[in-house]
Amino acid sequence: MSELSRIGVAIDSELLKKFDDHIAMRGYTNRSEAFRDMIRDELVQKNWERPDSNVVGTVTLVYDHHVRMLNERLTDMQHDHHHNILSTLHVHLDHDNCLEVLVVRGKAEAVRKIADALISTKGVKHGRLTITTSGAEL
Ligand code: NI
Repeated sequence: MSELSRIGVAIDSELLKKFDDHIAMRGYTNRSEAFRDMIRDELVQKNWERPDSNVVGTVTLVYDHHVRMLNERLTDMQHDHHHNILSTLHVHLDHDNCLEVLVVRGKAEAVRKIADALISTKGVKHGRLTITTSGAEL
């Protein structure tokens, strides 16, 4: 980490109260760490907005494995993009439902396309791309 800089921020008192309540509920014990995390989150989000930036994330899928050919379709898609999918976790939630978490890496545009294709596949009940960072640039 580089050296610390101290800054002063002018902020509306009511807004600051809301911020303090919010970060207390999130478990922060001081404003500085909450502030740093919010800045990092913004920077991670911004990185994902550039199509050619290198990104890391996870795709979460919930689906009914009884839907005809769904399992095969999802697996085929993952094999087609094996360079972007680093690992897959599969959990049999109950008799019908499966949860899959895929760790994805690559160019932002490619990773988004893969996530969209998987999530929009007929039979997938819920899906979410979670964007994060390798941490190298933060
Ligand atoms: Ni399963």
